[in-house]
Amino acid sequence: MRKQIAAANWKMNLTYQQGEQLLSDILAEGIALANHHYAVFAVPFPYLVLANSELSDSRNYFASAQNCYQKKSGAFTGEVSAEMLQSIGIKFCVIGHSERREYFGETNKDLAEKLNLCLGCQITPIFCCGEPLQIREKGTQNDYVEQQLKESLFHFSADQLTKIVVAYEPIWAIGTGKTATNQQAQDMHAHLRAVLAKKYGQAIADEISILYGGSVKAANAKEIFGMPDVDGGLVGGASLIAADFVQIIRSLK
Ligand code: PGA
Repeated sequence: MRKQIAAANWKMNLTYQQGEQLLSDILAEGIALANHHYAVFAVPFPYLVLANSELSDSRNYFASAQNCYQKKSGAFTGEVSAEMLQSIGIKFCVIGHSERREYFGETNKDLAEKLNLCLGCQITPIFCCGEPLQIREKGTQNDYVEQQLKESLFHFSADQLTKIVVAYEPIWAIGTGKTATNQQAQDMHAHLRAVLAKKYGQAIADEISILYGGSVKAANAKEIFGMPDVDGGLVGGASLIAADFVQIIRSLK
């Protein structure tokens, strides 16, 4: 079975102390993850070392970065490289979140570079894609998201592709309380898988975990994750509340 992943995206929230408390409350539940279940915590850079050490004793629990820079090293004041993340033992990194694309001007081409660097450092990228509201209203979301995949992923070999996790996050559903319907999520996930299958073959496409993100809550996680092409979620707001995220982890299929 494909990896099923509950990924928390803390964004720019929580102090160090609050983050430590949240992780310890979640770990106190002692949820033993199945082989194909993963709980991933994308925390702010200054908390990565802490999160990694807190999570290291629990099987299939991982800390993740929320971003890295698209250059290997050098004079880029304030940026963090994939190699730095690797050097502190980080195994996951969110790449291309819509907030990075929107507020920091990250292009599909930049993201291709970031993905290259992550893979070169044995870091599993969680590559985000998803359309804004006006594209959804025009009905051209399939083409829009396909283009994001093509420009950032299609230079990879099949073997490299299998080391990437995709997250579909319709921008109109992020932080808005407005979730895509289960069917909208399933339709897009099936489309993404079909796009990958056309380029890499069905067997490879079937190996890729595709997470849904956008107002996933404790109350709706189980039904969304239950859709055949949805392999868990990337969760913002609800990942900041221990009881809610615990329930979301428990909703993995
Ligand atoms: P949300 O955020 O769950 O608060 O909608 C999801 C995300 O941006 O990853």
